[in-house]
Amino acid sequence: MSVLKNDLLIRALLRKEVERTPMWIMRQAGRYLPEYRATRKRAGNFLTLCKTPELACEVTMQPLDRYGFDAAILFSDILTIPDALGLGLQFSEGEGPSFKSPITSMADVERITNLSPVNELGYVTDAVSLIRKELDGRVPLIGFSGSPWTLATYMVEGKGSKEFHKVKGMLYKEPETLEKLLDVLSKSVTDYLVAQISAGAQTVMIFDTWGGVLSKECYLKYSLSPMQKIVRELKKITSAKDVPIVLFTKGGGNWLNEMAATGCDALGLDWTTEIDAARAQVGDKVALQGNLDPCVLYGSDQIIRKEVKKVLHKFGKGSGHVLNLGHGIQQYVDPNKVTVLVEAVKEFSPAYH
Ligand code: CP3
Repeated sequence: MSVLKNDLLIRALLRKEVERTPMWIMRQAGRYLPEYRATRKRAGNFLTLCKTPELACEVTMQPLDRYGFDAAILFSDILTIPDALGLGLQFSEGEGPSFKSPITSMADVERITNLSPVNELGYVTDAVSLIRKELDGRVPLIGFSGSPWTLATYMVEGKGSKEFHKVKGMLYKEPETLEKLLDVLSKSVTDYLVAQISAGAQTVMIFDTWGGVLSKECYLKYSLSPMQKIVRELKKITSAKDVPIVLFTKGGGNWLNEMAATGCDALGLDWTTEIDAARAQVGDKVALQGNLDPCVLYGSDQIIRKEVKKVLHKFGKGSGHVLNLGHGIQQYVDPNKVTVLVEAVKEFSPAYH
């Protein structure tokens, strides 16, 4: 395996000194890029793109070639695990993901309990190996998974949701079914991340997109506790020892201390959390990743530069910051605005190190 030529991201995640603040953006390979739309068209649809390692590799590289980000993120989706568990994932145009066979009962959970979804996810580990080869040490490769809670929301609702009435209904009506499902998913996510690390992922991020819809008590029990288990397992494994782990709970700004106490290396912040207050709270325990509002990219070049200055200033001097958006880049963004963002970070951040 090649030595990293640019290891700013890994150093920042481990709170080691850096010359400037590293940056990447969530969903950096996506529909706002014309080259992504072209490859997706060639693939035929989004799932085929995810399931064809050569094409997944191609779109992973696109934003790096265009912008010179400090990290590559595996092109895939968090819903590969439920797909591999036999729920029948489909993406319909304009409607997002849905499952043919959602989880509705303990019997459904029991049906998936003894499956090994990682065996079905060879296309992901193949993509990881191929991307590592293609990167040739240019920047680190980020692997990822959804959190057990966030995967459970899609598996129980059967599709994206605003109210989460089925999964939160299950939480209060049939908690043992949800707990069993989360146990199955904790094991699957651990195995999946271990497989990605073995194939070459150099850091991993757990996306807990829907942890923020829970009360604190329920967050700790149903979202954080499974993530805690995963972090503990990953930290036990020699091959994963030097691989920083990032936890991102969207809407999790009130629970940063509890998240930091899991033993993870860094926390992702959405834009509703103040990064200065977050840093004051977690101190040197973890690095912070974020947290520009993705909609900043609809502003003028001047506004974008001003917002970058603000977030750098708020984090302040010293290492432990990875600049990112507070959530994924939206499809309507003008790709030229991302150039402005990257250049501003490269121009303004050395003063903070
Ligand atoms: O960050 C990256 O560049 C890596 C790629 C990535 C995708 N999905 C590609 C994608 C990552 C890290 C994800 C994670 C993911 N997927 C999450 C967690 C992060 C988050 O955004 O909150 C979630 C909740 C999903 C599930 C999912 N996938 C939804 C709800 C949708 C439809 C909504 C939407 O934005 O389109 C997807 C589709 C998806 N995943 C696209 C991409 C590029 C768009 C698909 C397309 O090309 O039509």
